[in-house]
Amino acid sequence: MRIEQYKEKGLKFDFGKEGFRNGIYFLKEPLSVEDARRKGAEAISVLKKLKAGEGNIKLAGLSAEMKEAFFEGAILADYTFDKYRKKEEESREVVLYVDEREGLDTALKIGEVVYFVRDIINDSPENINPESFSEIAKSLKGVDVFVGDEKWLKENGFNGTIAVGKGSSKPPRVVIYRYKPDKPAGKIVLVGKGVTFDSGGLHLKPAKSIKGMHMDMSGAAAVLGIAKAIEHMKFKYEIVGIMPLAENLPSSKSYKPSDVVEMANGKTVEVDNTDAEGRLLLADALIYSEKENPDLVVDLATLTGAAVVALGELVAALYSREEEDAREFEMASKRTGEYVWRMPLFEDYKEELKSKRADIKNAGYGRSGGSIMAALFLGEFIELERWVHLDIAGPAMLSKPFYYMPEGGTGFGVRLLIQYLRGEK
Ligand code: BES
Ligand code: MN
Ligand code: ZN
Repeated sequence: MRIEQYKEKGLKFDFGKEGFRNGIYFLKEPLSVEDARRKGAEAISVLKKLKAGEGNIKLAGLSAEMKEAFFEGAILADYTFDKYRKKEEESREVVLYVDEREGLDTALKIGEVVYFVRDIINDSPENINPESFSEIAKSLKGVDVFVGDEKWLKENGFNGTIAVGKGSSKPPRVVIYRYKPDKPAGKIVLVGKGVTFDSGGLHLKPAKSIKGMHMDMSGAAAVLGIAKAIEHMKFKYEIVGIMPLAENLPSSKSYKPSDVVEMANGKTVEVDNTDAEGRLLLADALIYSEKENPDLVVDLATLTGAAVVALGELVAALYSREEEDAREFEMASKRTGEYVWRMPLFEDYKEELKSKRADIKNAGYGRSGGSIMAALFLGEFIELERWVHLDIAGPAMLSKPFYYMPEGGTGFGVRLLIQYLRGEK
C-alpha cells in the first residue's frame, strides 16, 4: 500500500451512513480510536475487493489520535505473508490518497514493528528455531542482545527449558536484551514463551491441534518486537526482555512424563504432561527475572487451549496480583484494541497441581480451569507482587481475519506493550 497526497483519482471515501452510493463509499463515522482503526482496515479491504485500487479520503474532521488509528488500521490490514508465494495476483498494491498525514509517521513505525513480529511468527518452523531466532535478535540495533547457549542455560539453572528442548536436534537458547533510557521511570522485565514448534512431545498432539504450533513462539516474538520498536521509539522505562527458546519434539532424547526437573529456585517439578511445556520455559525465565530487581514483570505466552475455550480467539487472559497493574493493562487494551480480560488466580485450584513425587506437577487433572492452572503454576516461580501474566493463545493466532488482524500470526501483544510502556493515558 502507498499513502499519497489527496488527488481525486479513483474511488472516493467519505464518512456517513455506511455503504456505496453515487460512486462514493461511505464509512461509518468512527466513535472511538479502535473504531477509527477498523475504518482504516475497511477502506483497504474495499480498495482490494472493488478492484478500484486507488481511493481518496479526507481525514481533516478526525481528531489527531483517530487519524493515527485510521492509518494504523489501514497499514495493519494491508499485511500479507507471502514470503513463500510465487503468485502475485492477490497482493496488488493499493493507493490511499489523503488530505492530511498527521499520525502517519507513528502508524508506519508501529506497522513496521507489527509486520516484523508477524513475519517471524508466520515463517516456516524449519527457518525459525532457537538458534535462528537468536540470530534475528542479534541483528537488532538499539538494544544490547545476549544469547545464552546450552552451557549458559545449564549454569543458570534453566532446567525447564533444557528439559523441553531435549527431544530436538536444535538445541535450546535464551535471548536476553537490555535497554536503558537516561532517567528510567522504573524497570520492567518482559518474558515471552518461545516454543518454536510445539508437537506436544511424547504426549504428541493429535493432527488437528498440532496445526499452527509453529506459532507457539508468539509471546517471544512480541517481546522481541519491543526491541525492534526501540530502534524508532523512546520508552521511559528500563526494559529487559527474556525469551527462553526450545522446540518440543518426540524422540529417544525427549523429556518424559514422570521425569522430575529441579528448577533454579529449588522447586522440583514432576512432568505430568510433556505438552504443558511452555510453563517450564516460563518458570525458568520468571525465576531469572527476579534477579534483575524489576518493578514489574510481564510475561506473554500462547500457554493454554483452555484460554481459547474461555475467552475465544479475540481476547487474551490477563492475570495479575495487583489491582492497579490489571487496571493499567485494561486501559492499554482498550486503547489498542488488543483485548484482555482479567481472570482469577484462584489459589484453591493449586490442589490440582499437587504431586506425590515432587513439589509440584506441570499439569492438573482434566481440562477444567486449564488457563488458571497454568497461571497458578507460574506463580510458584515468581514472588514479586507486580507480575502480569498474559495467556495469548487465542488472539496470537487467528483462524480467520478480523478487521486489521490477519489469519495466522497477528503479532498480538506488541501494540499493547508499546502502549503500556509509553505510559500515555
Ligand atoms: N501451545 C499450547 C497451547 C495452545 C493451544 C496455544 C492452542 C495455542 C492454541 C500449550 O503448550 C499446550 O499444549 N497446552 C496444553 C496444556 C495441557 C497439556 C495441560 C493444552 O492447552 O492443552
Ligand atoms: Mn504444549
Ligand atoms: Zn506450547
